[in-house]
Amino acid sequence: MEAESSPSTFLGFNVLPISIISVLLGGLVVLIFFSDYFRKKRSEVQTIAKPEEIVAQKSKKPSPSNSRKPHSRSQSHASEKDQVKRHHPLDLNTLKGHGDSVTALCFSSDGRNLATACADGVVRVFKLDDALCKSFKFLRINMPAGGQPTAVAFSDGASSVVVAAQNLSGSSLYMYGEGNANSANDTKQQPKLPVPEIKWAHHKVHEKRAIVTLVGTTASYGSGDGSTIIASCSEGTDIILWHGKSGKILGNTDTNQLKNTMATISPNGRFIAAAAFTADVKVWEIVYSKDGSVKEVTRVMQLKGHKSAVTWLCFSPNSEQIITASKDGSMRIWNINVRYHLDEDPKTLKVFPIPLHDSKGATLHYDHLSISPDGKILAATHGSILQWLCAETGKVLDTADKAHEGNITGIAWAPKSIPLGPDLTMVLATAGDDKKVKLWASPVHPS
Ligand SMILES: *[C@@H]1O[C@H](CO)[C@@H](O)[C@H](O)[C@H]1NC(C)=O
Ligand SMILES: *[C@@H]1O[C@H](CO)[C@@H](O)[C@H](O)[C@H]1NC(C)=O
Ligand SMILES: *[C@@H]1O[C@H](CO)[C@@H](O)[C@H](O)[C@H]1NC(C)=O
Repeated sequence: MEAESSPSTFLGFNVLPISIISVLLGGLVVLIFFSDYFRKKRSEVQTIAKPEEIVAQKSKKPSPSNSRKPHSRSQSHASEKDQVKRHHPLDLNTLKGHGDSVTALCFSSDGRNLATACADGVVRVFKLDDALCKSFKFLRINMPAGGQPTAVAFSDGASSVVVAAQNLSGSSLYMYGEGNANSANDTKQQPKLPVPEIKWAHHKVHEKRAIVTLVGTTASYGSGDGSTIIASCSEGTDIILWHGKSGKILGNTDTNQLKNTMATISPNGRFIAAAAFTADVKVWEIVYSKDGSVKEVTRVMQLKGHKSAVTWLCFSPNSEQIITASKDGSMRIWNINVRYHLDEDPKTLKVFPIPLHDSKGATLHYDHLSISPDGKILAATHGSILQWLCAETGKVLDTADKAHEGNITGIAWAPKSIPLGPDLTMVLATAGDDKKVKLWASPVHPS
């Protein structure tokens, strides 16, 4: 197995001068357009940060004409004519090459690699050297034993990736790391891609159940030793914590809530929180011993307040808050920086109504939620709809009604800004069952 690139790279060889000119022109137009767009959005965020305005504007939807302003970027992309009509101004690019529904995606900690799991049995690791790149190079990892990848997480920076793959006998976890053989020969290619070689594997990790989410982070809290820890959440009620490098089981726990939807780890590696079938969210602490290893995983808190199932949740970048979205039509921001060992309960800091309704006016729920690395913007999805909200006020910053031609199956913000031509930009990636992965600019420029 070796690094491969999508076909247009080879074709691109012939038409290099033309494509360079068109990329430059396209980039220029996009930049001019975006700087105008961002100026507008930034002033919007500043406006809505004032509390009295929040009340007044709470239920107002953004006017569609604002977010669908025609622009000239498309003129330099003749080959994308059919996309022009529904092109959203924040839609930066599409990662091509998937042969079936994309089931999950994950950024490396530097934001430069994006791993995708696809129902065609392949995990692809794309190099994101520039968000405007015409065709992204990717590394292809074929799943063994007829496995279908359902979730993916990076381990130890961008050097290795952990994949959950399912077949008839259950779910396996594979860790692919850099092989020794390749390092000398791959240097002709510009940035080095990790070489997929299985470093460890575990089978039937959740018996016959599928793994719905996989999330990794660095154990940096307290005496944590800085290694990557990974939580696998099954479609049942169990969650297992793994050591990324060795594949050792560090702990496990059970939500006892009928059916898990997802679980995640706080960015500092201190807490695990899970959204399951019920309205209450359970939170566990990963306790580290003095030598830096994981001692145990213990239940410490419960978020009580939603009236119906929590569909998704995420931790704030500082690991002190949890943001939940529920079928009760609301989102809550919880302060979990409490003395839970003294039985102090997490407090709801804010409640926002979910600003998304069907044609009859019924509130829709969010399938996925992800917060930007600066903590300012929440991205949320329902079906094929993608919304950006101000995390401070819950107000809609922008909406892409048809972000994908099918359901959105996963979203993630790049942990670090990535190049957009000569600039750097915060990027959100979305995966869909339309076989596509898309990159989106942020509606607010990082200031
Ligand atoms: C499923 O995967 C496991 C682990 O690779 C393998 O041993 C098993 O034979 C596979 N089962 C089927 C039914 O393909
Ligand atoms: C590099 O590739 C050549 C042939 O392609 C092979 O003979 C050689 O063993 C490779 N070197 C390493 C370090 O893998
Ligand atoms: C999207 O998901 C919903 C609910 O799971 C399902 O009913 C619908 O058929 C899906 N749509 C597509 C286009 O797959």
